[in-house]
Amino acid sequence: MAEPHVREAAELLAHARRVVVFTGAGISAESGVPTFRDALTGLWRRFDAQALATPEAFRDDPALVWGWYEWRRSRVSRAVPNAGHLAVAAIEARVPDSLVVTQNVDDLHERAGSVAPLHLHGSLFAPRCSVCARPAPYEVAQEPGDGRRVSPPRCARCAGPVRPGVVWFGEALPAAVLEAAIGAASGCDLLITVGTSGLVYPAAEIPQVAARLGARVIQVNPERTPLDAVADVNLRGPSAQLLPALVRAAWGGDDPALPGAGPSGAGG
Ligand code: OAD
Repeated sequence: MAEPHVREAAELLAHARRVVVFTGAGISAESGVPTFRDALTGLWRRFDAQALATPEAFRDDPALVWGWYEWRRSRVSRAVPNAGHLAVAAIEARVPDSLVVTQNVDDLHERAGSVAPLHLHGSLFAPRCSVCARPAPYEVAQEPGDGRRVSPPRCARCAGPVRPGVVWFGEALPAAVLEAAIGAASGCDLLITVGTSGLVYPAAEIPQVAARLGARVIQVNPERTPLDAVADVNLRGPSAQLLPALVRAAWGGDDPALPGAGPSGAGG
């Protein structure tokens, strides 16, 4: 039997026509990809964002920055989607008018079967020239240690240094992606926010826009966040457990894509 908050959330999900699933680093935590701000394990607890994730840092020490992103890319390449990513893909399969909007630069939603998730903060897998912006092919990830310098490759057209295709502090989000995300949030009837601290803007606006325009909001997070204020239901716990439980409680336990599916996995 699903616990009461899961049942309440499942009721919203089962009746939703247009769903936005808005995700942050927490959804990938159980795949072994570190978050940014969690105590002890968060990347920004161990590394200096100003020295690694700004245009100035890349200009001053491109090999340090490229090496750090190569380390992150190699970690993500070894990771596999978890039950939370699979549950998100199962929601998309059930609700045709649904969209994943992620702040994550990993590719775990895609590998779980999500169709064209919007990457608000770019991707580890889309490097481009830092001078002429031409997309650059990425080679199989080297596996540098987390402090190792690796010289970035050079652009085939202009020989400029290739940079990671992510959004750095001080940079604007890709306008078309942000516009599409805001548009989806404005038109949805349910937004599920998963594994984000809700501290980074403008991304954190997205659940707030949905709530303001009348959508119901479910939050999945073990911790309290500023998004508690807009959530109709707070599911406090890890997303790899709670998202499958939510899907099973909404539609029964027979979704073959979900771990633990089958009659014994059915929630109430
Ligand atoms: P944060 O590290 O700020 O927050 C991660 C959230 O995930 C926290 O609220 C945790 O409580 C929650 N969490 C941890 N484990 C979880 C689990 N197993 N299941 C569900 N939730 C869990 O990461 P983001 O909110 O994604 O920006 O950070 C937003 C942006 O800040 C990132 O996209 C990145 C960073 O600087 C850029 O790179 C531009």
